[in-house]
Formats: sequence, structure tokens, C-alpha cells
Amino acid sequence: MSKLVRFGVSLEKELLVKFDRDISQKDYPTRSKAIGDLIRESFVKKEWIGGSEVAGAITLVYNHHRRELVNKLTDIQHDFGAFIISSQHVHLDHDNCLEIVVVKGKPKDVEKLAQKLKATKGVKHSSLTMTTTGKKV
Ligand code: NI
Repeated sequence: MSKLVRFGVSLEKELLVKFDRDISQKDYPTRSKAIGDLIRESFVKKEWIGGSEVAGAITLVYNHHRRELVNKLTDIQHDFGAFIISSQHVHLDHDNCLEIVVVKGKPKDVEKLAQKLKATKGVKHSSLTMTTTGKKV
């Protein structure tokens, strides 16, 4: 962790009241942590827009009884194998599976993989959590 610096910020009182209420509901211990997170969040967005290497997690929920669906999802993951660090499969109940695919690569490749998985017939829900490799934030 780099050296901490204190600085003053001028804000409209109403905005600060709203901010404090919001971060209190989110269990932030201090304004500093909340402001730091907002700044890092904007840098992570910039990484995704800028096209540098990013990391993320794709979650998928699907019914494994659907014919060919499991094979299709596996085929797609093999096609994008260079960007997949690991995956975890959880049997949620008798019918439903939850899969978490951890990815790292260029945003366009990661987003293409996430979209292909999501668009596969039989996938009930899928989301991509966009995060950072941690090198730049
Ligand atoms: Ni399963």
C-alpha cells in the first residue's frame, strides 16, 4: 500500500449528507474507504473501455437435463480456453447447475465469451462481473 495523503474536498452539503447516508447503509467504516472505492471503480471502468488486460467472473445457471446444452457450453469454453483461468461447477439442486468461469484477457475477448455463453439456448441466467487484474488500481 502506498503512502496515505490527506486532502480537503468541498461539496454541497446536501450531497455530502446523501453520501454519508448511503455509505452508512453500505457499512463503510470511513468516508475515505468509500471515496477510494469510487475512484478505483472509475479506473476499473477505464481499463474495460481502454482495452487493457482485465479479469472477471462469468456466472451461469442452467438446467443440465437440456440435451446438448452442457456440450455446447463446454465447446464454447474450449474455444476461449486461452482466457479462462478456472471454472467451478456447483449442482444447485436436482435440475439446476451454477457455473462460475474465471476469466482474464482483453475486454473484447472476455465479453465475447460471456455473451456466447449467455446466448446459449437453455441458459437461464448469466452475468459478467467486470473487475481488474489489480495491477493498475
Ligand atoms: Ni451440475
